Amino acid sequence: MGKLDGKVAIVTGAARGHSQAVARRFVEEGAAVAICDIVPVKVLEERVGSQIRRQGGQIICFQTDVSKEDQVNAMVKETLKKFGTVDILANVVGIAGPTKDVWDMTLSEWKLTLDVNLDSLFLCCKAVLPVMIEKRYGKIINFSSGTGKQPLSHRTPYATSKMGVIGFTRTLAADVGPYNINVNAICPGEHSGRSMELARGRAEYLNEPFDEEEFFQRYEGRRRDRQSVLAGRWRVDEGFTDKGSSSEDAASLAVFLACEDSASMTGQDINAGGGVMW
Ligand SMILES: NC(=O)c1ccc[n+]([C@@H]2O[C@H](COP(=O)([O-])OP(=O)(O)OC[C@H]3O[C@@H](n4cnc5c(N)ncnc54)[C@H](O)[C@@H]3O)[C@@H](O)[C@H]2O)c1
Repeated sequence: MGKLDGKVAIVTGAARGHSQAVARRFVEEGAAVAICDIVPVKVLEERVGSQIRRQGGQIICFQTDVSKEDQVNAMVKETLKKFGTVDILANVVGIAGPTKDVWDMTLSEWKLTLDVNLDSLFLCCKAVLPVMIEKRYGKIINFSSGTGKQPLSHRTPYATSKMGVIGFTRTLAADVGPYNINVNAICPGEHSGRSMELARGRAEYLNEPFDEEEFFQRYEGRRRDRQSVLAGRWRVDEGFTDKGSSSEDAASLAVFLACEDSASMTGQDINAGGGVMW
């Protein structure tokens, strides 16, 4: 018996990364899942949908820009038509945004990050909450970050949005608690691929040299060197395990928050960062 048998979940993202891992775990635990991503639905079907259906899982795929109200509403409406209800919403989509200082950034760069990382939470929650409130049941899981709890140099929009995710989570949890709806946040750490991407962007912005191999060795070499690696004001967090952060850990935590094992937990922001303590 799965932990999510008979439940219906919506997972935003899912073409790759944490969201795909979350969608797969929800299906394994017995949920019928609707996934959406900004990529064409054909891509989503090839990467995830058709595989899951072949394995006997129930899934529908949508091409949805989660920062657009009409597209979010259409996706939720179709999910309700197909699966009859919604019990779980995992707001996983997030973009890294620009690597720039505030004085170099355009308003549209700032807004895009907040639109995708914060408006999407508002829009997806607004669309599913009437159903959850009526049935007096719901689980909402929002993806923040370690950067939801500490600064990330040269990335003000991302940090602001991820800190905003925690504020949104706590406040919504207070508002919907009386309706038996839990709202929690997951704060993943960076895996080496994402850290590399961010470090390269920072180096480009600051016009500094970037040696991929050297960065990789330093990142992966935490076992030997337990000092935080400092490059300018850039900090690569280490954890107290040697494992780093993984999509699988984040997905397992999402299952825990989506099922009755965490029935009394709400308004929390939980780290899934390989032992990093934020
Ligand atoms: N990967 C990390 O190292 C890390 C660390 C901390 C927090 N997080 C957070 O975890 C979440 C997932 O991160 P990830 O690294 O797996 O992301 P990712 O970049 O691998 O995947 C994000 C997915 O969202 C989709 N997407 C982007 N904009 C969209 C939009 N407007 N509408 C619909 N879909 C859109 C992309 O196509 C992609 O498939 C994010 O919220 C991120 O901020 C990730």
